Amino acid sequence: EKYSYGMIGLGVMGRNLLYNIADHGFSIAGFDLDHEKIKDLEEQKTSGMNIKGIRSLEDFVSQLETPRKIILMVPAGKPVDAVLENLKPILSEGDIVIDAGNSYFKDTDRRVADLASQKLHFMGMGVSGGEKGARTGPSIMPGGDQEAFGLLQPMLEAIAAKVDGDACTAYMGKGSAGNYVKMVHNGIEYAIMQLISEAYDLLRKGAKLTNDELYEVFKEWNNGEMNSFLIEITRDIFQQKDSLIEGYLVDQILDKAGAKGTGKWTSEQAMEIGVSIPTIDIAVTSRILSAYKDERIKASQLYSHSEVVTPENKEIFIKEVGEALYLSTLISYAQGLALLVKASEEYHFEIPLKDVVKIWRGGCIIRSVLLEKFYAAYTKNPQLSNILLDEDIAAIVKERVSSLRKTAAFAVLNGISSLGLQTALGYFDAYTTESLPVNLIQAQRDYFGAHTYQRTDREGVFHTNWESFNH
Ligand code: 6PG
Repeated sequence: EKYSYGMIGLGVMGRNLLYNIADHGFSIAGFDLDHEKIKDLEEQKTSGMNIKGIRSLEDFVSQLETPRKIILMVPAGKPVDAVLENLKPILSEGDIVIDAGNSYFKDTDRRVADLASQKLHFMGMGVSGGEKGARTGPSIMPGGDQEAFGLLQPMLEAIAAKVDGDACTAYMGKGSAGNYVKMVHNGIEYAIMQLISEAYDLLRKGAKLTNDELYEVFKEWNNGEMNSFLIEITRDIFQQKDSLIEGYLVDQILDKAGAKGTGKWTSEQAMEIGVSIPTIDIAVTSRILSAYKDERIKASQLYSHSEVVTPENKEIFIKEVGEALYLSTLISYAQGLALLVKASEEYHFEIPLKDVVKIWRGGCIIRSVLLEKFYAAYTKNPQLSNILLDEDIAAIVKERVSSLRKTAAFAVLNGISSLGLQTALGYFDAYTTESLPVNLIQAQRDYFGAHTYQRTDREGVFHTNWESFNH
């Protein structure tokens, strides 16, 4: 008897996804070069699961039903190509290989073309939700060949997270759209994490809150309109005691952030296709700056910051920080979604924005109740180019702009770094300004480089001999 699915890569994500698939009644075989992982897979399986770890790739392939449906959960980059090189000679026409890792979308395009020459289907599929999500219900972002997708759809819907009975998975578009949507998901994830860390900094340095008090504030936030996965885990982080010394673990963690690349790709992409996503950019670059810890220590001694003034009314301050965080988070989603709109045109993905925000409501790292409001906005207008242009969203924004201004101003005046909040506000101010001062930039460009300019009062392209006027 053959297996319905195959999983290559039995690390934390692969193994948990495999168990999740098996839990829903699908038979699935697993393969990994590391035989220890195959042993773990067998040992930790529960009764009723129709799964098997197989030690040779040839055996693995021969024990799958055709057309084969093989999911890859291996690190992005060379490991994916290495697996494909080994698979290609032993697969047959019509087989489907689904890359569920955080692969770069252009790599997926290349692999789709390569495998198509052998009449094999290759699909990029974003999976979000970490270890627990993979096991109990992630958000799944598949894209690529529609027919191949059709064969996977029932299984994906069974294993994905559910919100009000709806599965958090949908077809994200043609080609490498699945990877692209997941990349932007991660870019937004970076921005929201940056913003939460800034709110934390303002609350601890401004309002002088203890970890216990921070726990209470985040708990309250999570119980209301800010309900989201990232706020929820932040709440719990403030309660985690250290196991090595007295006190809380968060206070002992070195302030140097790591990154695996998806945030950087999002920023690079936005630059490449011409979309402004400054809050995501700043989140990427803030992680980079944080890594220069030794230099930061030296600089902090050279430029000591003055004492942070305690806000007059702590309650009001906390409320404003909350609203600032809520609004800047909304603006980060707006930037990421605007990137998806442009990418969809640029790469002919045909990304259904409405479905994107719908399947992000559950399972993934950036899930939040706010996405319900975006879903409503896209339901009204699926072509919305920027979420900030929706009238109901605008009403939410208008109510909170003054809190964002006050919070950003407090940070600036007190020397508390708040790059995320400031860029969210700066983006908002630029995006909502009819006349920007770039008329002057155009004049300068034309002055020194004859780059020409357009006029507000008539059609055409103009050039002025600036120096002759000025002498
Ligand atoms: C998810 C996460 C997951 C992972 C990223 C980000 O959606 O489940 O985004 O994919 O956490 O790789 O990791 P870095 O912060 O290390 O770039």
